[in-house]
Amino acid sequence: MDPTSGYAFVGLENLHNDIYPLIDASTNKDLNQSGKVVLITGAGRGIGRAIALQYAHASVASIILCARTVPELDEVEASIKKINSSVKVTKFQLDVTNEDAVKACLDAVKKDEGRLNVLVNNAGTTEPWVPIGESKPSNWWNTFEVNLKGPYLLMQAFLPLLVETAKADGTTVDVVNISSIGALIVHPGVSAYQVSKLAVQRLTEFAAAEYGKLGVNVVGLHPGGVLTALSEGIASIREYMVDTPELCGGFTVWLTKGARTWLEGRYLSSTWDVTKLESMREEIVAGDKLKVKMVI
Ligand SMILES: NC(=O)c1ccc[n+]([C@@H]2O[C@H](COP(=O)([O-])OP(=O)(O)OC[C@H]3O[C@@H](n4cnc5c(N)ncnc54)[C@H](OP(=O)(O)O)[C@@H]3O)[C@@H](O)[C@H]2O)c1
Repeated sequence: MDPTSGYAFVGLENLHNDIYPLIDASTNKDLNQSGKVVLITGAGRGIGRAIALQYAHASVASIILCARTVPELDEVEASIKKINSSVKVTKFQLDVTNEDAVKACLDAVKKDEGRLNVLVNNAGTTEPWVPIGESKPSNWWNTFEVNLKGPYLLMQAFLPLLVETAKADGTTVDVVNISSIGALIVHPGVSAYQVSKLAVQRLTEFAAAEYGKLGVNVVGLHPGGVLTALSEGIASIREYMVDTPELCGGFTVWLTKGARTWLEGRYLSSTWDVTKLESMREEIVAGDKLKVKMVI
């Protein structure tokens, strides 16, 4: 793997495939985030579902689950209630590409909660993997609609509420944009997905530059290679789908516990050991590492 992909940034010996005690809110009560309101897009299955369940273990006050497929949201709600019946669950049938629907979701969250502590932009899709000349423009562009316009619309709508929440609570709030290691590599045939994720990573840097000083910590996060509905149909990457969805769930909950503002605007991978990552803080900040840059 090309070193600029960041795959082994913390060292091969410091990579994880599964959740571990330090980031597992089901056993590590230091990850408790009681009182927080958390909104997750693409929360009906796969990685988004695992993130939601970790926040249930972290005893947040309220989890807002968004996706288009209602029965999947119903299942996640039932699983949250089994873990922690005191967590309030709200479900939104939301297409992240629909500006009016995102605005309606914002209005409802403002009315019901009046605040938002964590926004996880996780909804994502991929097109059939073919060279550019063989691609269908509507498929190609749909990937951008979901993967880039979606996080943009959610941030555009919710950033003012996030800022208000940070100000009112005197704390930091978080935006976690689920990007991909694909943002940092060129795998022939995957132009729409990988360029859309690269753009999300850069958009993350913009949001951090514009809102970091207002208390919003914005990061991009690779979830690992996870066998999900999105990845299971792609035979060429099957052997790399070795990480559990819980790994990203735990990493996300760890990330939003406390003010990890030194990570703002950066690319992170759920596979990186968090103790090792923290030990590299000075090097990362001084070198302005984990940002989108050109190798010169
Ligand atoms: N799996 C991996 O190895 C991997 C690696 C790198 C990055 N990622 C990223 O991780 C995120 C989650 O993917 P996953 O692997 O968990 O896939 P998944 O199991 O297919 O889940 C995708 C989620 O996104 C939702 N979604 C898709 N299009 C949507 C739309 N237009 N509006 C609202 N929600 C939409 C889906 O719900 P509905 O269809 O019901 O709307 C579903 O809940 C994605 O951003 C993906 O790019 C995954």
